[in-house]
Amino acid sequence: MEASRNRRAVVCACVLLMSPALLRAKSTAPPPAPADNPTTKARVTLGRLLFFDKRLSRDLTVNCATCHDPRKGWTDGRPTPIGVRSQLGDRNTPTVLNAAYLPALFWDGRAATLEDQTKGPIANPKEMDMTLPEAAARIAAIKGYARYFRRAFGDEAATIDRIAKALAAFERTITAAGSPYDRYAAGDRSALSPAAARGLALFRGRAGCANCHSGPNFTDGQFHDIGVGAQRRIPDPGRFAATGRDGDRGAFKTPTLRNLDDTAPYMHDGSLATLADVLDFLDRGGQPDPRLSALIRPLGLTGAEKADLLAFLKSLDGDKHVVEAPVSLPR
Ligand code: HEC
Ligand code: HEC
Repeated sequence: MEASRNRRAVVCACVLLMSPALLRAKSTAPPPAPADNPTTKARVTLGRLLFFDKRLSRDLTVNCATCHDPRKGWTDGRPTPIGVRSQLGDRNTPTVLNAAYLPALFWDGRAATLEDQTKGPIANPKEMDMTLPEAAARIAAIKGYARYFRRAFGDEAATIDRIAKALAAFERTITAAGSPYDRYAAGDRSALSPAAARGLALFRGRAGCANCHSGPNFTDGQFHDIGVGAQRRIPDPGRFAATGRDGDRGAFKTPTLRNLDDTAPYMHDGSLATLADVLDFLDRGGQPDPRLSALIRPLGLTGAEKADLLAFLKSLDGDKHVVEAPVSLPR
């Protein structure tokens, strides 16, 4: 299973990387939205208010931005997050940036759409710890929200599906652009430093990174076991949790590599503190793990080659896309 997925990923990476026109078209196109949830200004406005509203959490201490802080690359800078009642989460917080382009959400891909995904943290007992009906009732009881729901959905009913839709519409506006790499892909060959250009060649070539980190968002949207956390006494089941297929144990979604500067620490368990640590880990060929992807193997990189790869990864840092918290929330 893993092997056939990997072969597909290789083909897919080559097609995308060899076609600058496709690369351009895809990286600038607004994220697709489902037919029943167009990304309208009114929905985005409401979604932004909800994203910053702690009343969506049981003890009023946590909002989406607690863990996805726009000033920290839409993450929290922690190995694993802290939710309501100061509980420690199990997995590293991924960025919201460009999540709208992902074919499956969460490290194990258990949500297919952003509309689905946004309900997850609200109901997660370690994150916001509400039942979905409770969350909807909380928002419905706030009079000031009525006009926002009316503008976004035609009437003032604050249902959980509308809350999820508004949050998803807001998330679809959080996209990355403006990195040196984007200028390079758009035709400006001088946008990458010589070191970054050598790093790109390694990334696509001998180091094999583009086998999985492919396309404009630098992910194949697939799940791979690269050995992270494999030595734990009770390893995270990863993709297995979503599919129940034994071969999916230990496989996690290939993350985007955009704006990594802001999103340390890395990996699904936040176990690697710096990009240099990540490169050392991959250079070693991960760590002993019976399920390790066939695409992960010792690379024998020199110090200079690691520096080039690092320069390339830094060329993917673009607009921070900071969204300010609303000055005040509906009362
Ligand atoms: C307590 C911290 C916390 C809170 C609060 C939180 N999240 Fe998350 N978020 C996470 C973690 C951790 C994950 C990954 C969980 C997993 O993969 O199992 C995640 C995953 C996501 C993803 C998927 C990203 C990807 O790459 O797959 C999106 C989008 C997202 N959250 C948006 C939101 C929204 C919207 C809210 C508010 C309704 C929210 N989050 C609240 C910690 C949090
Ligand atoms: C077999 C597919 C595959 C290959 C090849 C691969 N990666 Fe990854 N990469 C992944 C997956 C999957 C993860 C997440 C793993 C986890 O957390 O368990 C990841 C994580 C990362 C992260 C951490 C990102 C974050 O936000 O946590 C970086 C950085 C990274 N890879 C860079 C590279 C570089 C550079 C190369 C080439 C030297 C490379 N990868 C090769 C699949 C791959």
